[in-house]
Amino acid sequence: MSENPHRAGEEPGLSRKRFITAVGLGALAAPAVAGAASRAGAASAAPADAPLACTPGRTTVAQTEGPYFKPNSPERDDLTAGVSGTRLVVSGYVFDRACRPLSRVLMDFWQADNSGNYDNVRFTLRGHLFTGADGSYRLTTIVPGLYPGRTRHIHVKLQAPGQSRILTTQLYFPGEPRNNTDTIFDPSLLMNVRTAGGVREGTFDFVLDVAGTPTTSPSPSTPPGGTWRAGTAYAAGDRVTYGGSTYRCLQAHTAQTGWEPPNVPSLWQRA
Ligand SMILES: [Fe+2]
Repeated sequence: MSENPHRAGEEPGLSRKRFITAVGLGALAAPAVAGAASRAGAASAAPADAPLACTPGRTTVAQTEGPYFKPNSPERDDLTAGVSGTRLVVSGYVFDRACRPLSRVLMDFWQADNSGNYDNVRFTLRGHLFTGADGSYRLTTIVPGLYPGRTRHIHVKLQAPGQSRILTTQLYFPGEPRNNTDTIFDPSLLMNVRTAGGVREGTFDFVLDVAGTPTTSPSPSTPPGGTWRAGTAYAAGDRVTYGGSTYRCLQAHTAQTGWEPPNVPSLWQRA
């Protein structure tokens, strides 16, 4: 099946009511969600999954949902049944505006298969899960294939319990040639990706626009700037200063305008 590229104007405008209906928000009000509870234990056993970065007040950017969202996805944290492709585990945390972990956040994922096709009839590579008690999530899937007009990406919607607002966004892979030509691509949505034992592991922390009490305030009195420079090739471990803070490079890349350290937690970690 041939797929057309997403365009920003193609978003069909999923309403909140539809999303709640789609994934059964009633489950959020239930005292226990089996999937979330079991996952919370699994996530806590992964010491490498410490929070990547969270800046109070800096929320994850929204992106178009594209034309292929489909309601009523099944609840599951493994999308690989009957699917071929490179195994990928995506994990991380979901925070509120004050960087406090949010439990039982509903996360609905959908993506293309290994050939770049979406299943618009059934629910292949579609599913929703809930964050654990510590705000963590963990999804097992495959690396999505490419299709015309887009770089490699995974779609996701997030909704915190009791909140009407839904964040619709996409996750990206570093080092993809099409990242430079995809007009929807946003470097702040790059996962931190590594390969371990033949499995690719991507991590990303979301910050939802959910009220919280900031523990620290942004530092508007500190002017941006420092040793960080666009156009510079940085290696993992390099250190730069930006906006009065020191950052450590997490993965090699060539810096670009818009990829300033506070904007791309997958590339820079505050030292
Ligand atoms: Fe897509």
